[in-house]
Amino acid sequence: MNTIDDKTIVKDYFNATGFERWQRIYGNGEVNKVQLDIRNGHQQTVDTVLSWLKADGNLEDLSICDAGCGVGSLSIPLAEAGAKVFASDISEKMVTEATQRAKDTLSNPANVTFAVQDLEHLSGSYHTVICLDVLIHYPRDKAAEMITHLATLAESRLILSFAPKTLALCLLKKIGELFPGPSKTTRAYQHREADIIKILENNGFSIQRSAMTSTRFYFSRLLEATR
Ligand SMILES: C[S@@+](CC[C@H](N)C(=O)[O-])C[C@H]1O[C@@H](n2cnc3c(N)ncnc32)[C@H](O)[C@@H]1O
Repeated sequence: MNTIDDKTIVKDYFNATGFERWQRIYGNGEVNKVQLDIRNGHQQTVDTVLSWLKADGNLEDLSICDAGCGVGSLSIPLAEAGAKVFASDISEKMVTEATQRAKDTLSNPANVTFAVQDLEHLSGSYHTVICLDVLIHYPRDKAAEMITHLATLAESRLILSFAPKTLALCLLKKIGELFPGPSKTTRAYQHREADIIKILENNGFSIQRSAMTSTRFYFSRLLEATR
């Protein structure tokens, strides 16, 4: 499968069955046990980023780019906390849902702007660029290109999360592949932490904070890198 295929597949998925699945997971309604576990894991990742940024005490002064924003799970609370957020996603359905959620919940919806845009074509300059749980959809070379592009947009800080490539997770994935149910998701790519750190370092960043969220079905390594 080449990278153009990956991107087209991901876009089509998140405008169709993927949208239905993930907007439920990233919501408050009833879901099955696996989805609930993923919801809780993802919320932990979001909460970690929020706690890091709030601890710095300067959110109101920050411009933030949330690349691959999904339904706005991070963008909306960041905007509520006073940051100026530019949030974008390749999926029009995701952006429509995020815009509605922002309208329904934000006391100051003007703090966030949403756009349908693949992150490879984003331009501009932001204090902080964040990209959560997007790299899982892309193979290593493509992920490297994406991070390198995001780095050009980040004046000071880049925050990324990805599914780490560890022996235990590789085994888990293999076991999952032995019992393939109806396909519920796109292909998932794990990334070696050392590879991601190298890409960040090659772009002039160094790691400041890191965290790991592990639940039964959700695994996400979070890195904060600054210039
Ligand atoms: C698993 S969701 C994570 C959403 C959000 N970052 C969060 O953590 O709540 C992955 C999102 O990445 C988006 N996406 C995938 N490839 C993308 C790309 N090349 N550019 C922008 N968004 C992309 C998908 O449409 C989807 O909304």
